[in-house]
Amino acid sequence: MDYIKNYINKNKDRFVSELIELLKIPSISADPKYKKEVFFCADAVANSLKKAGAENIEICNTEGYPIVYADKIVNDKLPTILIYGHYDVQPPDPLELWDSGPFEPVIKKTDIHPDGAIFARGACDDKGQFYMHVKAFELMIKTKTLPCNIKFMIEGEEEVGSENLGDFVRNNKEKLKADAILISDTGIISNDTPSITTGLKGLSYLEVEVTGPNRDLHSGLYGGAVANPINILCEMIAKMKDEKNHIIIPDFYENVVELSDIERKEIARAPFSLSKYKDALDLSDVHGESGYTTMERTGIRPTLDVNGIWGGYTGEGAKTVIPSKAYAKISMRLVPNQSDFEITKKFTKYFNSIAPKSVKVEVRPHHGGEPYVSPIDSIAYKAASDAMQTTYGKKPVPVRSGGSIPIVALFEKELGLKSVLLGFGLDSDAIHSPNEHYGIFNYLKGIETISHFFLNFVKYKK
Ligand code: BES
Ligand code: MN
Ligand code: MN
Repeated sequence: MDYIKNYINKNKDRFVSELIELLKIPSISADPKYKKEVFFCADAVANSLKKAGAENIEICNTEGYPIVYADKIVNDKLPTILIYGHYDVQPPDPLELWDSGPFEPVIKKTDIHPDGAIFARGACDDKGQFYMHVKAFELMIKTKTLPCNIKFMIEGEEEVGSENLGDFVRNNKEKLKADAILISDTGIISNDTPSITTGLKGLSYLEVEVTGPNRDLHSGLYGGAVANPINILCEMIAKMKDEKNHIIIPDFYENVVELSDIERKEIARAPFSLSKYKDALDLSDVHGESGYTTMERTGIRPTLDVNGIWGGYTGEGAKTVIPSKAYAKISMRLVPNQSDFEITKKFTKYFNSIAPKSVKVEVRPHHGGEPYVSPIDSIAYKAASDAMQTTYGKKPVPVRSGGSIPIVALFEKELGLKSVLLGFGLDSDAIHSPNEHYGIFNYLKGIETISHFFLNFVKYKK
C-alpha cells in the first residue's frame, strides 16, 4: 500500500495549507455575530469536497446553520460509508491567553509534536479531523482506488447541541443510507499508543437562577437579615454530592450500568500514568467519586459539574451589595442507560426541593443528549483497528471517553447504524481551550489510517 504513503508525502504541504485556509474562518456557532462567517465556512467545505472529487454537493439549509452533504456513489452494490464531522468551532475566549490569534493559524513545534502542530481554534475540534476524511477521499479518487461509496455529512451546529441535525437525519433516511458511520472527532491515548473511542457520554446541560430580594441591596443595611442568593446557590450546589463524591440527586444512579470486574480489568489495561496526568495539569492530587479510578471516573461514571457561576458585583474594586440574583450553568455527563430527559427532570425536582423559602429558583434546561457505546466485534471496528495496526504498527486500545457527541446516539436510533469513533487528537491538544492545536503527524497519520479503513471495510464486508 505504498501508494497511500506516496500520495500523502507528495501532497502533504498542500494538505496542511488547505487546512490552514479553513482554520482562518471564524465559524463560531455560539456567537450570532459570526453568522456570516459560519455560512461562509459551509461554502468553503462544500468547495473542498467538490475539488476532492465528490458529487451531489448540497448545502442543506436548516433553521440554524447549514449541513453540507456530498457523496460519491461508485456502484450501488458496493458498501457505503457515511462520514460525519462538524465545521463549527467553540468561541476562542479568553483571547488574552492565546499566544497567537485563534484564527491566524501558525505552525509551531512542541515537545509532544516534534513535527509541528497547527495552532488555531478548531485545529483539532473538528476542522483538522473532518478534513482528514476529505483528503483521504481525494487520495482514493485521484489514485483511482476508492473501493466503496462515500457520503459526507458535515454540520455547523455541533458545538451548540446539533439542534437541527436530528430533523435532517429523520427526513433524509434514504439519502443517508449506509453500512457504517465513520467519525473523527475524538482522540487517541498518545502518538505511541493508538486507541479507538468506544463510548461517549450523554449530557444534560442546564442553567439555574436563584432570586433573593427583588433588587440589589446594601449589604450592611440588609446583610444577615435576607437571603443572599449567591450564598444560597453555593449551599445548594454543595448539596449535590456527598463526602464520597456520589451525586445525591434521588434516583440519579437508577439504570446506570455497573461494569463487571472483567470489564473494569479491561479498562485498567489501557496505559495511564496518574503522575503524568497530575503533572500535566499541575495538580497535587486528583479528585472524584470514591471507589473508582481516574479512567473509570471519566469513562464509565456519570458526573456533575458547575461550568460557570455568576451574580452580584465582579467589577474593579469593591461594591457592597447583596445581589438580587445568582446563576450557574451545570452539566451532568451521563452513561448507559441514563436518559438526559429523565436526569434533567430529577435534577429539577431535587433542586426545587432543597431551595429554602427565602429564595425563588428556576431551572432552565439547555441541550442534552444520550450516551453511546460501540461494539468492538463489528466489521467496522475491525476495519478501523486493523487500519491503525497497519499505520501505527500497534493494535489500538478501546477506550471510553468522557466527552459527548450527542448526535451519535441519534444516528443509531434513526438510521440503525453504529458509528466508529476513529479520532486522532491528543488530550493535550487543548480543544475548547486557548492555544488549541493539532499535530501535523496526527493529521497525516489520520489521512493514511482512514484510507486503510476504507480498503479494510470493503475487504471484510465481502
Ligand atoms: N469533539 C468533541 C467531543 C469529544 C472530544 C469527545 C474529545 C471525545 C473526545 C465535541 O465537539 C464536543 O465538544 N462536544 C461537547 C458536547 C456538545 C453538545 C457541545 C462536549 O463534549 O462538551
Ligand atoms: Mn468536536
Ligand atoms: Mn467540541
